[in-house]
Amino acid sequence: MRRCPARASAASNTSTPLLPLPAACTTLADTAMPNMLEVEKVDQHFRCGFLMRRTQVLHAVELRVPAKSIFGFLGPNGAGKTTLITLIAGLRKPSSGVIKVGGHDATGTAARMKTGYLPERPYFHDHLTGEGLLKYVGTLSGMSRPKILARIPKVLSLVGLTEARRVELRKYSKGMLQRIGIAQAILHDPEFLVLDEPMSGLDPLGRKEMRELIVGLAAGGRTIFFSSHIITDVEAICDNVAVINKGRMIGCGPIGEFLSKGPVKTEIAFAGVDAAAARGIDGLEQVREMPDGIRALVPGQEAVGRALTQLLDLKARILWVNPVRPSLEEIFEQPAGGRRAP
Ligand SMILES: Nc1ncnc2c1ncn2[C@@H]1O[C@H](COP(=O)(O)OP(=O)(O)OP(=O)(O)O)[C@@H](O)[C@H]1O
Ligand SMILES: [Mg+2]
Repeated sequence: MRRCPARASAASNTSTPLLPLPAACTTLADTAMPNMLEVEKVDQHFRCGFLMRRTQVLHAVELRVPAKSIFGFLGPNGAGKTTLITLIAGLRKPSSGVIKVGGHDATGTAARMKTGYLPERPYFHDHLTGEGLLKYVGTLSGMSRPKILARIPKVLSLVGLTEARRVELRKYSKGMLQRIGIAQAILHDPEFLVLDEPMSGLDPLGRKEMRELIVGLAAGGRTIFFSSHIITDVEAICDNVAVINKGRMIGCGPIGEFLSKGPVKTEIAFAGVDAAAARGIDGLEQVREMPDGIRALVPGQEAVGRALTQLLDLKARILWVNPVRPSLEEIFEQPAGGRRAP
């Protein structure tokens, strides 16, 4: 009997701040590019535990992903990302609702031919070499031998594993395993790549390499949909972003719109005034002494002029004034009711 994973309770306990709930994530429908992925009113529930209680994991999820874009799917642990991704990859049908890939039902052959999928926790037979794994996967997925042999060098070169192609997977680093995971996903040359936490477990350099790989794959004309709970990874490379929490979409839209809706702050750097006097200035926050002077943040646009006037009255030398782009984290931390998804 299937038991609820322990994570279920973690999901309900999450304290991640939420954006106000939008009716649905539909803002991408009007983009010029046709949609590669359409998710309409998808619910998913599971029966689990001794009493086979029905647990709803996804609630009326709506999502549209324009073709040839990089789409980031954010959410805290237990939010429902993997559940939705397995539905998008066509591994199961949703309890209700519709998922279409390139206009085809996600579980059908036409959609699967278009889709490459990297699971959250891929398992590879580690006695195989990188090249051996790709031959195995290609054969399993019904590709012809000439096609497999023609694709393997291209794919290995794309993911930067040409030199390691004859090394056994047990000797691969975590980053190399993630890259061979991407290689198996793109072996049949799909237009649409679905990657479940591709940066997970990677160090900063590995994450950077994975981001570059994703950008490179998208430059080849593919549509990439990847999940993450690391906002900066999404912020760095995505055109559009959707956020899910507790199985509900809480925001969706072009990343620029998310960022422009964030709290406005300005950083001012100045010299010639001591830190104690600077802390007394109305509107200056987070006053920090730096080797080249003092830096402070001013929240809101109106307060900038007032803070500058007070600094000039104290004979401060203004070094620079910079608007600070809000991070997605700050945007998510806004109190509910502050904004709707763009
Ligand atoms: N087959 C299943 N049966 C019962 N509950 C499930 C099943 N699959 C997922 N769940 C529950 O659904 C919720 C969402 O899980 P999911 O794995 O989709 O989250 P996630 O956003 O991918 O989390 P993480 O960031 O930890 O990977 C969790 O509470 C999980 O326990
Ligand atoms: Mg997951």
